[in-house]
This record gives sequence, C-alpha cells and structure tokens, in this order.
Amino acid sequence: SLAAHIGDYQFDNLLLNAAGVRCSTTDELNKTLDSMAGGCVTKSATPEERAGNESPRMKALPLGSINSMGLPNHGIDYYLKFAEENQGKNGKQVILSIAGLSIDQNIEMLKKVQESSFSGLTELNLSCPNVKGKSQVGYDFDAVRDVLTSTFKFFKKPLGLKLPPYFDFNQFNGIAEVLNDFPITYINVINSIGNGLVVDPETESVVIKPKGGFGGLGGDYVKPTALANVRALRQRLNPEISIIGTGGIKSGMDVFEHVLCGANLVQIGTAFGYEGTPIFERISKELKDIMDKKGYRTLDDFRGKLKTI
Ligand code: DHB
Repeated sequence: SLAAHIGDYQFDNLLLNAAGVRCSTTDELNKTLDSMAGGCVTKSATPEERAGNESPRMKALPLGSINSMGLPNHGIDYYLKFAEENQGKNGKQVILSIAGLSIDQNIEMLKKVQESSFSGLTELNLSCPNVKGKSQVGYDFDAVRDVLTSTFKFFKKPLGLKLPPYFDFNQFNGIAEVLNDFPITYINVINSIGNGLVVDPETESVVIKPKGGFGGLGGDYVKPTALANVRALRQRLNPEISIIGTGGIKSGMDVFEHVLCGANLVQIGTAFGYEGTPIFERISKELKDIMDKKGYRTLDDFRGKLKTI
C-alpha cells in the first residue's frame, strides 16, 4: 500500500503534484484528481489575479529546470472555489496554496479560507523566490514568527507551510525553534533553490528573461538538498508536525529516499511538468516494486529509518 496521512487527512497514494506545476487551471487540477495521484495542490494564489513575469520564464534542462514565473495565477477566489467544490472528489484531497506578497495579503487570504466551507489543508507558501523586490520570508525567522502569530489568532483550520531550502545547521535549528511554537499541521520542504543562474555558453547568455536570468532550480540539482531538509527537520520538529518531501523526484527510488528521510507524503514538480499525469502511475509502480523486493508492505515500515554509518 502507498497510503499515507497528514494529521486526520488520509491519502490513498503519497504522490501529489508540487505547487506551481500543471495546477493553474481547473482543467489541470481535475486531470490530477482523475489520475493516480493522492490529491492535488493548487497554484499559489495571491489576492488578485496576476500575469506573472515576462517570458521566457522557464527552461527545461538536462538535469532539471530553472524558472522565474513570478506567481502568475487566477487569484484566491478562483482556487478557493475549486477547493470548496472538489475536496473529496475521487476520495482525494485538494491542498490550497496561498502566497501573499506581504503579511497583510496572507492574512487577508487566510481569513477568506477560514470563513469558507473549505475543510481541507491550506499550504502557506513562505518561499517564493521569483517576485521582483520581495525576499523569501522563510529566510527571516522573525518574520516567520510574526506571520504565524498573526495567523493562529484566528485561523483554526489545518495549516501547512512551504519552506525554502536551508543550508546551515544554524538555519535548521532556528526555523525548527520557531515552528515548534505553533500548531502547524505539516511543513513542505523544499521549494526551488532560489536564484540559481544557468548560462548557455553557445549564445553567451542567460536562459530565462526575468531578473537577469536568475531563477529557482528544480529537478536533479536539488534532490540532496531536499533530502537534507526533510531529514534535518524531521530530527528537530515536534512529532505532531508532518513533512511533505519535495525536490528532485523523478523515480520510485527518489520517493523511497524521501520517505527514508522522514517524508509522510511527497510532491513532484519538474518531472511532473515534463511527463504529466502518467508520472503518478509510473512512479507508484516503481515504488511498489522496490518495496516488494525489500519486503516492505507499508510506508511506515521504512519511513524515517535512514541509517547512519
Ligand atoms: C513561484 C515560484 C515559487 O517557487 C513559488 O513558491 C511561488 C511562485 C512563481 O515564480 O510563480
């Protein structure tokens, strides 16, 4: 079985799309809900519709991807309506992602969610690297504490946080100390590695237009960083906080590694962008084959059991 849960929320399959990838329209979201995925995540919403950055703003690469989309999305009302109407479709969860450009925007959207009929998981994205002039909140621990303090004064529904990758043990310790003070349902690590720069030596140019070519990295480039964040935060967070592992997943073995590090569920971004919904069936089969060979019947049999030497 590939079943998993986050708090009281059951998923028949631990695989989901990562926010941002093939999840901007109701058509794309319905395709994922009709696939073997355990649920879907909506494109991070802002209070109003946004066109995003100039194109080209995403480039596929042999080892992954770079993007600077700039939060193109249809606005919170569009995604909240979809979430209200489709949570539970095919027995699956809709996770509603929100990414305000300020604390006030996040509070404004979370109030709408609180007052709505949506009873699923909300994912507060504190890690978008691609909005010009805005830094990633997840790197400012005092700002993270401020937004969570304001949020939990009124927000009584289950909340997850999408976080940026951390690279230093002081950062792992610092963010865990903040998060452990709040009733967070889950964290999702990692968002893209922000502000990478891909160079095309042939044209002697950058490969995406916004921000002079700087953009978020995904795919093979980020897997070890993702595994480190899943593992380091599992070792530091209250056991009540679940972890979604995201970063570099393109095979069943990659999922196996994320779960060994402690992931409850996983999300697929870059590779889902390349393959579309058939990826959920392919990776499910690959993971089941690995579990069969190793004699594991459930994810619990090996979750978090990474060995050190
Ligand atoms: C975008 C990218 C992100 O990594 C994110 O978390 C939110 C938005 C974007 O560029 O659209």
